[in-house]
Amino acid sequence: MTDQPTGLAGRTILIAGATSASGRVLARSLLDAGARVVAVGSDQGRIDALEAEIPGVIGERADLTDGDDVLELAMRVHAGVGDVDGVIHLVGGWRGGGGIPGQSEEDYRVLERSFTALRYVSRAFWDDLLASPAGRIAMVSSTTVEAPTAGGANYTAVKAASESWMRSLAQGIAKAEAPAAAVTFRVRSLEGLEGRLAASVVDLWNTDAAGAAERNGTVVDLSA
Ligand SMILES: NC(=O)c1ccc[n+]([C@@H]2O[C@H](COP(=O)([O-])OP(=O)(O)OC[C@H]3O[C@@H](n4cnc5c(N)ncnc54)[C@H](OP(=O)(O)O)[C@@H]3O)[C@@H](O)[C@H]2O)c1
Repeated sequence: MTDQPTGLAGRTILIAGATSASGRVLARSLLDAGARVVAVGSDQGRIDALEAEIPGVIGERADLTDGDDVLELAMRVHAGVGDVDGVIHLVGGWRGGGGIPGQSEEDYRVLERSFTALRYVSRAFWDDLLASPAGRIAMVSSTTVEAPTAGGANYTAVKAASESWMRSLAQGIAKAEAPAAAVTFRVRSLEGLEGRLAASVVDLWNTDAAGAAERNGTVVDLSA
């Protein structure tokens, strides 16, 4: 492992699902820390609004649950700004209630989209993350993975699968001996924690290669 400079200056970070409140706070924090920020969402109007609200953000429209869209996004990003150093996955959504009988297929299919997007995006930018002197990938999971409920069974199952995928990414990073880290954040609710999430993401780059190896594969509860 080679040593690496710390901080976000000169780093390019892609926010996958950037138009929510947490995405906007994160985009601003990353820019303030010196990063170049590529903000991705599925709705052109909301991406345009984000670019207007936060000057400097590079908006990209893509349906991250569509494999072809993600590949085209990766080509545009690579042609426009080059390789990325970080991917922060925020595509989420909530459906639930009604106990076990209420865990409908329709709700599951909606929720599963966030896991699909995580798989597509992490594969599309995997080589970038391994090649970067400070590659980082992070997602936001839920504290319910530790304490699932009947009414949230679909949602929690998707989050648990996503956490498993993140641990697989961590193993791939360790195996490649890359100075990178795959980190899962958990929250009970994000409301009021947007700033804390943003600070925690920025902090992922305040570490050298040894620190990245220590963080790789960890789960950090931001609600605690
Ligand atoms: N909110 C909470 O209290 C809470 C609690 C626990 C965990 N989390 C997790 O924290 C993360 C962030 O939560 P959040 O509430 O800020 O996010 P969110 O609103 O669920 O989603 C984030 C963004 O993803 C974008 N998105 C949705 N589908 C997309 C697609 N197919 N392609 C591209 N972009 C897409 C949405 O923008 P567009 O519609 O403009 O595309 C949205 O702005 C999620 O993973 C969520 O599950 C949240």
